[in-house]
Amino acid sequence: MTPLATSFLQNQNFIDALYIVAFGLFVLGLMGLTGPGTAVRGNRVAAVGMGLAVIATLLPPGIGNWGLIALGVAVGTAVGIPAARNVKMTQMPQMVALFNGVGGGAVFLIAWAEFRNSGGFGAGTPTYVAIFSLFAAIVGSVSFWGSNIAFGKLQGLLPGRPITLGGAQQPLNFVLGILTIAAAVDSAAGAHSEAIFIGMLVCAALLGNFVVLPIGGADMPVVISLLNAFTGLSAAATGIALNNPAMIVAGMIVGASGSILTNLMATAMNRSILAIIAGGFGGEVALGAGDGADGDRSVRSTSPADAAIQLAYARLVVVVPGYGMAVAQAQHTVRELQRALEARGVEVEYAIHPVAGRMPGHMNVLLAEADVPYEQLKEMDDINPEFQRTDVALVIGANDVTNPAANTQPDSPIYGMPILEVSNARSVIVLKRSMNTGFAGVDNPLFYDEKTQLLFGDAKSSVGEVVEELKGL
Ligand code: TAP
Repeated sequence: MTPLATSFLQNQNFIDALYIVAFGLFVLGLMGLTGPGTAVRGNRVAAVGMGLAVIATLLPPGIGNWGLIALGVAVGTAVGIPAARNVKMTQMPQMVALFNGVGGGAVFLIAWAEFRNSGGFGAGTPTYVAIFSLFAAIVGSVSFWGSNIAFGKLQGLLPGRPITLGGAQQPLNFVLGILTIAAAVDSAAGAHSEAIFIGMLVCAALLGNFVVLPIGGADMPVVISLLNAFTGLSAAATGIALNNPAMIVAGMIVGASGSILTNLMATAMNRSILAIIAGGFGGEVALGAGDGADGDRSVRSTSPADAAIQLAYARLVVVVPGYGMAVAQAQHTVRELQRALEARGVEVEYAIHPVAGRMPGHMNVLLAEADVPYEQLKEMDDINPEFQRTDVALVIGANDVTNPAANTQPDSPIYGMPILEVSNARSVIVLKRSMNTGFAGVDNPLFYDEKTQLLFGDAKSSVGEVVEELKGL
């Protein structure tokens, strides 16, 4: 490259201009993510923005060891691309937890490297750099370890139930918090001891583990979103310490959007974020009725032919999709069923619970993919009053989000979570394969209700058989 070209590319004004374009693309990308129709494009726009930000970061002279940078890019590409390509939609939450954890891990390692580079945050380091670096180290470490535990729980590597140290848990968390802060204050005040810095990272790591281990079942979505916000904030703090605008802007976008999402999900689940951080909820999970043997309660099963008759003569059918619809990839067959019913003059609506499935907007994305008109998707607060006039509530692979125990059993781990009030419908047909519990691992009294019938089988096959029966009516 000619010296003129090099000096142009390394000119600070050019680099700043690249950053500004990148930030514009981040914001445009985020706007695209607000609707299923524009989400893919939004993702690509944001990815181009991130590509520009990376280039802008690498342009200044003396950036570092190019061999190591190339190795990092190669390893990241070799791991990231196959992982993103091969992950199933239903495994997306653990993927998000893992990627999120990697972000937090990178942040605390950068802070550690900065500590070593500057020989501790001594007199030569501006106070704000020390404070932001230490904040990033602590929050990044909590986020890394917490996200790993969340990944382990979602992937089934760790038990999904709350794991606690009982009464000792909260005092221990408190002591770890105090030790972490004390070590950080000591380092900020100019202590050069790397052992104290590492001790701080270890305390934060234990805190990350101890905060997430007691959280069980249905509450995991909130915690993943919270850790996501933590990672964003720690990345922004690192950006301030390193004077890297891309990290500040991207970190703040992740931190702000993650915080808003956490708040929305906590409200939807009727949970308090403070209680989550304190490890204060979760309770013991009542593992019940995994094999259907639940005292003398029995369930009524039905056949595709009987289900088809009930649906065909209904005026209003409300479809309640859940995680099982995603597993079975039944959304296209469900859309076929909707068309067949509408052709007979039956009104069809969809009831969307905010945490149905395994990620925010999971059901919206699947149903949009199957071309279900957006206006037929009704949020929980809008559809719940409609169940009073619903002839058949067709529950397709949903369980926890319909569980009346959330309203009636104070000792249930999902107590207080708002649910879809399907039992107010005149009849309920539940499609599932067995009497297995849902994600929260709790029994669902809805299945034993006298107006409920269970159509056992894979959701896609069952819906397909109902559609065939409908055609023959
Ligand atoms: P779940 O309560 O998890 O229930 C899913 C049901 O689908 C199970 O009862 C299962 O029963 C059935 N199923 C699985 N595969 C099936 C298939 N191929 N065909 C038919 N049925 C099948 O789902 P939900 O009601 O959607 O609730 C979501 C849960 O996940 C909540 O507890 C929520 O807190 C949690 N969670 C949500 C998120 C987000 S953000 N959405 C993230 C992480 C966790 P069988 O095995 O008997 O078939």
